[in-house]
Amino acid sequence: MCGIIGFTGKRAAQDILLDGLQRLEYRGYDSAGIAFFKENSGHISVRKTAGKVSDLRAIVDEENISTCGIGHTRWATHGGVTNANAHPHRVNNVTLIHNGIIENYHQLIEKYKLMGKLRSETDTEVAAAVFDANFNGNPIEAIKKGLEDIKGSFAFCIMFKNHPGEIYIVRNVSPMVATYTKEQGAFVASDLTAFIEFTNKYFVLPEYCIGKLTKDGIEIHDLEGKEVEPEYLTVDWDVSTAEKNGYPHYMIKEIHEQPTAFANTVNFRIKNNLPDFSDDGIDDSLFEGITDVTVIACGTAMYAGNVGRSLIQNHIGLPVNVAIASEFRYERPTITDKTLVIVVSQSGETIDTLEALRLAKTKTDRTLAVVNVKGSTIARESKYVLYTHAGPEIAVASTKAYTVQVAAMYLIGARIGVVNNLCEKSKIESFIADLKKVPDAIKKVLEMEDIIRTYAARMANAHDAFFIGRGLDYTLSMEGALKLKEISYIHAEAYAAGELKHGTIALISEGVPVIAIATQEHVYQKVISNIREVKARGAFVVLLSKDEKITDPSVCDVHIPLPAIRDELSVFEAAVILQILAYYTSVEKDVNPDQPRNLAKSVTVE
Ligand code: AGP
Repeated sequence: MCGIIGFTGKRAAQDILLDGLQRLEYRGYDSAGIAFFKENSGHISVRKTAGKVSDLRAIVDEENISTCGIGHTRWATHGGVTNANAHPHRVNNVTLIHNGIIENYHQLIEKYKLMGKLRSETDTEVAAAVFDANFNGNPIEAIKKGLEDIKGSFAFCIMFKNHPGEIYIVRNVSPMVATYTKEQGAFVASDLTAFIEFTNKYFVLPEYCIGKLTKDGIEIHDLEGKEVEPEYLTVDWDVSTAEKNGYPHYMIKEIHEQPTAFANTVNFRIKNNLPDFSDDGIDDSLFEGITDVTVIACGTAMYAGNVGRSLIQNHIGLPVNVAIASEFRYERPTITDKTLVIVVSQSGETIDTLEALRLAKTKTDRTLAVVNVKGSTIARESKYVLYTHAGPEIAVASTKAYTVQVAAMYLIGARIGVVNNLCEKSKIESFIADLKKVPDAIKKVLEMEDIIRTYAARMANAHDAFFIGRGLDYTLSMEGALKLKEISYIHAEAYAAGELKHGTIALISEGVPVIAIATQEHVYQKVISNIREVKARGAFVVLLSKDEKITDPSVCDVHIPLPAIRDELSVFEAAVILQILAYYTSVEKDVNPDQPRNLAKSVTVE
């Protein structure tokens, strides 16, 4: 979604803005722009264009010593991808950038008589016009009055004519972070990666508070004018963690980071061979006496929840419902005060997941967020939070975040079992001992990268692909299919292997790739039978299994052997293989896997 950066301080702003926008590219966008105060003047200049940050770099002034400006990458919602629709938008005295959606922009056009006066098709220009109409020389008053009328989600970064060196910020729902350093000045951004080069300390702007940034500091006031003290957070990663470090893409770098990410998420939470969340401040009362679990998430995070469901339901014996956040919001929740609600989100900002959490909180106090980004909205609003420690995930396609989300679900499932005596303690201890071996197993899988890469060439020519498995393997198939389609644009579907013959097998014809996952002993032979059914219809079968060798070569065309590990944990190995396969298929097709078309890293609009 849209990326925001603003800077006012003691050095030239333009490079900070452009470099910041480059770091925000991963969020997904289709146009870019900056605005800045002209040197020693209250006048504001705007440069913007449809296209990439590199296109914007081509149209900015080479020498620009302005020390105050704002920059934006736009992910189109209202209006097409055009220069006019790109941000910043200027209406008389007001120049602004925006992330979010103004829901009542039609009413605002009427109320402020803007029909025929707007130059773009965006809701953002309407907001600029509203602030401008309320501006009588005092920026804060203009913002306050404007907010009385503007409805929706927004993070605004605003400059007012004749107020050089000042940037005003305000948000509702949409994320916005800021920081001040004595050496540089004041920064604002949609996320920390934009200014991580300068500091690892930041604060989240509280909703409906107005921030004023100058070279001397950041002042924040609520709408009543009361001063608000920002709560600074510190992350334990730096700019090098957010760079490619020699890898051609973030995605493959992040795939390789999984052994470390897994160990960072799991190891410190194991005490006396059992999962222990005391360092997270999570009290066992959260789990005591629960009757069921509801997992709420979107996309990959939801698929991680599906794996968790399979484990918790089948091994702990508690019913688990996995809800798509955007659906959950409009259904009648069956949650009670004995339901544990787990919301899963890498970014912690996905709007549907956030709104679903808010709804769940009206039914139960037992909310637990599994989140990667420290201080994100979901992390702050959930009663409890269990941070995954994957480090920043920049590639749009989630890889290491998925792995640690599944790991977190496994830890939570095991703790539920311990607290409620739902499983023998010795069994859980043995499971946890094996869980600690996963990073080594993933390392072995990563050694197969070159071999897996050779199969991607075959995948790249396909129009359709199918991922099949049973049980845990089926839950992983969904993630495998999503990964392939989002970065290679190949139509891919996941099917429970036994369900194919109830319709979908009609789509199997000569050469259609079927990626079959068969790691679960109790259904292994059944999956092999299902594979034979598609093989008999000409499918090109890639089989992932723990067999060292396949004795009957007619079962598949390609066999990828997985390192030996207990069945519940092979999902981690197989996931890495599917990620590598999708990555190289994308590369083979000349798609940039880090920035697939139409997609955004953090989906902050509904
Ligand atoms: C997966 O590769 C996608 N990037 C997407 O499905 C993502 O997992 C989903 O949008 C949820 O994001 P979140 O984890 O930040 O909430």
